[in-house]
Amino acid sequence: MTVHDTLTNEERLAELDLATLQQLVGLVEYDADSDPFPVIGWDAVVWTVGNATQTAHFFQSAFGMNLVAYSGPETGNRDHKAFVLKSGAVRFVIRGAVDPSSALVAHHAEHGDGVSDIALEVSDVDKCVEHARSVGATILVEPHDETDEYGTVRIATIAAYGDTRHSLVDRRRYEGAYLPGYVPRTGAYQKRPGAPKRVFQALDHVVGNVELGKMDEWVRFYNKVMGFTNMAEFIGDDIATDYSALMSKVVANGNHRVKFPLNEPAIAKKKSQIDEFLEYYNGPGAQHLALATNDIIRSVDALRAEGVEFLDTPDSYYEDPELRARIGEVRVPIEELQKRGILVDRDEDGYLLQIFTQPTGDRPTVFFELIERHGSLGFGKGNFKALFEAIEREQERRGNF
Ligand SMILES: [Fe+2]
Repeated sequence: MTVHDTLTNEERLAELDLATLQQLVGLVEYDADSDPFPVIGWDAVVWTVGNATQTAHFFQSAFGMNLVAYSGPETGNRDHKAFVLKSGAVRFVIRGAVDPSSALVAHHAEHGDGVSDIALEVSDVDKCVEHARSVGATILVEPHDETDEYGTVRIATIAAYGDTRHSLVDRRRYEGAYLPGYVPRTGAYQKRPGAPKRVFQALDHVVGNVELGKMDEWVRFYNKVMGFTNMAEFIGDDIATDYSALMSKVVANGNHRVKFPLNEPAIAKKKSQIDEFLEYYNGPGAQHLALATNDIIRSVDALRAEGVEFLDTPDSYYEDPELRARIGEVRVPIEELQKRGILVDRDEDGYLLQIFTQPTGDRPTVFFELIERHGSLGFGKGNFKALFEAIEREQERRGNF
């Protein structure tokens, strides 16, 4: 079966089409038949947090997501609460311990709020796991069926960097709200008048931070285990300020729905943002999630209206004649971008607009990017220096620089 010209169920439900997805996340055609580990796309980003009840409220009120399903003590799950939220094709699952002896308590004590499972939708769980095992991947949960009155899901889990895992989910025989054991549930939260229908439509990429010297090991893991290919490469001086540096490589699945930039710290005069992350997350983990929007101005205004804080971009960024010349024409006046601190980058394929939030939890770890692509399949390489200088200013304020 080839999957190059099909939409995922989530994309169909979100009324997205292939042309929109090409624009939003750089979807490409490919032949899944020759892929040893065919990934259809993202299934869910599963979070472990200290207070799922309030975090679920935050993602509804501030990020405009909709509650669609729930599992907890009232549904027979005495271990934890889990809230399933959607925005466009994106699914977040927010989990927090109820039972004081839940494994989630230890996970949260160690890592703080963060992403514990980047679940992927696949068409053949057994084939993927068989391949992963044959090249030495750690299988955490063997392929098995989970069934309820809505159908059957085939699922397995493999280990990735740190305590991060990838569940592999085949939900094509399932009609329920999320997984067996979850009940449909809508939120009591009402969107404010004039709020956009959704703040973001799709997930573009999830960045992993790994330890010094481990980036290539994890690139090889995704190459070998998942058949991902290398998209772009940024090394050394590409991502260095006067004080700190990092190295980054990007791997992607065949259709480019799933893109994993992998960062490692590089030796420099001061502590890099990657070192800060590794220290406070207590190991490797997911650093940022890039949310694709087709109107970043509206998205940023909606998020700011709800109090979401972004990294500051200095006015000098927009006034630099060299940068202005390189940016050329974009769909909105530079002044509108400057007002909001939105960054622009351009390459041979087109341009992109992007902006980064402050960390959304207590620890200086996971944060979000909003991205609006116009042809460019890059990750904002031209902005890295300005961005990292902005992060350094925040690290300085936290006493971690
Ligand atoms: Fe990014």
